[in-house]
Amino acid sequence: MSEVREAVRSRYAGVAKQLKVIPTGQTIAEAGCCQADGPDCGCSGSYSLDELKEIGLSEAVSLGCGNPTMLAQLEPGQVVLDLGSGAGLDVLLSARRVAPGGHAYGVDMTDEMLELANGNAKKSGVSNATFLKGTIENIPLPDASIDVVISNCVINLAEDKGAVIKEAFRVLRPGGLFAVADMVELDTLDPTVKKSLDSWAGCISGTIPIDDYRKALIEAGFEDTHFEVHATQSIPGLDGKVGSAYIRAKKPT
Ligand SMILES: C[S@@+](CC[C@H](N)C(=O)[O-])C[C@H]1O[C@@H](n2cnc3c(N)ncnc32)[C@H](O)[C@@H]1O
Repeated sequence: MSEVREAVRSRYAGVAKQLKVIPTGQTIAEAGCCQADGPDCGCSGSYSLDELKEIGLSEAVSLGCGNPTMLAQLEPGQVVLDLGSGAGLDVLLSARRVAPGGHAYGVDMTDEMLELANGNAKKSGVSNATFLKGTIENIPLPDASIDVVISNCVINLAEDKGAVIKEAFRVLRPGGLFAVADMVELDTLDPTVKKSLDSWAGCISGTIPIDDYRKALIEAGFEDTHFEVHATQSIPGLDGKVGSAYIRAKKPT
């Protein structure tokens, strides 16, 4: 395992243990994007309280930077895949929306997160969700098997974003949708920040500019790419340099 991947895995193994001990409904101090103790960067308040209540979870289990389930019109019968599903919130919300007849999958490489997600699935009473162990660079699902790929603050953590985007394209059916919340680089980051493993695991150093992200989507074969930055990081020294974006693209029919 590369140094970067191990830094990411161990960060989220630790966060999973932290999330396991907080009682449902209570927020972790300053919960937010990619780090249980980090600043909020755009997800808080974006989930419907009624929907959260239905699955018995609170927004506190989200380590995302937005709510990707808002980006796609999920319908009964569809198959959804969440890349880097963490504690499982977006998978479980999606699973309810695609029922009856549909299914939601989550892929994550961290055992502790998979254990937490499976526990949350049990609590939620949702039966059409499956959490798979694997990497988002090598998705353990067949070609053209998914209607909508979602992801929340994960692709920036991958060393080879092009490989992840190509995999998303491969598993989508023709006409399928890529609907993702992710962190992006809005202004050049300091080289020392770029080299920090801790900052990488915290969704800062691995971010790429929107133009590079769009290029990777188009190179993989996607069309109708759309980016909307909806929040910027306000950490001292990083002010405005990274932001949370909603990203949409379509696999041609
Ligand atoms: C910032 S958390 C986001 C979790 C979830 N999407 C959410 O919104 O709460 C990142 C998650 O992605 C997983 N992850 C990071 N890189 C991955 C990779 N290359 N393959 C599979 N999972 C990965 C981590 O284990 C962790 O659970």
